[in-house]
Amino acid sequence: MIRIRTMSEADLPLGMRLKAQAGWNQTEADWRRVLQLEPEGCFVAEYHGEPVGTTAAVTFGRVAWIMMVLVDEAVRGRGIGTRLMQHAIDYLAARAVPTIRLDATPLGRPVYERLGFQAEYQLARFQHNGLKRQADPDRLPATAEQLDAICALDQRATGADRSRLIRRLYHEQPSAFAVASRGESVAGYRAFRTGAHATQIGPAVAASAEIGQALLDGTIAQLGPVPMFVDIPLENRPAVEWANEGGFTLQRHLTRMWKGERVEDRPAELWASFGPEKG
Ligand SMILES: CC(C)(COP(=O)(O)OP(=O)(O)OC[C@H]1O[C@@H](n2cnc3c(N)ncnc32)[C@H](O)[C@@H]1OP(=O)(O)O)[C@@H](O)C(=O)NCCC(=O)NCCS
Repeated sequence: MIRIRTMSEADLPLGMRLKAQAGWNQTEADWRRVLQLEPEGCFVAEYHGEPVGTTAAVTFGRVAWIMMVLVDEAVRGRGIGTRLMQHAIDYLAARAVPTIRLDATPLGRPVYERLGFQAEYQLARFQHNGLKRQADPDRLPATAEQLDAICALDQRATGADRSRLIRRLYHEQPSAFAVASRGESVAGYRAFRTGAHATQIGPAVAASAEIGQALLDGTIAQLGPVPMFVDIPLENRPAVEWANEGGFTLQRHLTRMWKGERVEDRPAELWASFGPEKG
């Protein structure tokens, strides 16, 4: 009675309904981006013929992210989430991807643990209700020529080659990107994107605390009077302090988990994760 099939654009209303039911921040543009990044890795669960669940696996070189694991609350606790996850894991195994990672909610974590995922570290979701007004920050807009350097910096911090994702985001909204330079080289970058409830700040990577703080200060100044979310690894203590002192409130925690080969990443350089979907 549970059947898993590939997801298509025709299933976007289902994806949007389930993410709204879970109170998540993604927009239709986020769902479309996932479908376009890895059309064969996006799945729908049907229960007695009715579509009731989703998940997506996106590969970034040797690392894959599983995201958008959602089951309609009316049919939870029947093994549908586990079947969706197993399907995504099998899809990645067939492609010989050595590492799978994800950011787990408290509801997802026990399901993933039973499937062999282990906890790595915690991320804190912070919320800011916006500044009184927009300021013109001292910001260096990122240029298309800097994308190689941005992707290399991102790979050093995350342990994954996310260039497909970063280039796509850049082309969607170049003005959301800014860099910090040290001499000729790029020492930090940040981006943001619109969300259903708040603008999601991230990804943001910085080689030092000073650079990270300047990049995020510039981001909130540029955004001004809008609610914003930022997901920060607790291991990045200067970033957590920055959020606590800068008027952000802690909303919830997520657990970053992995299965397979352990990835060497640098959470202390990650000032804002992409968001739960893509690290
Ligand atoms: C997390 C989520 C996807 C799990 O989906 P689900 O279909 O309920 O998952 P499963 O049914 O496979 O597992 C859930 C529980 O039911 C139990 N279960 C599984 N099959 C069962 C069955 N046939 N009979 C009774 N219980 C069963 C599981 O053991 C598990 O127990 P737990 O409460 O100890 O974890 C769902 O709760 C959800 O959409 N939550 C909101 C969004 C979210 O947080 N997603 C996770 C993002 S990381």
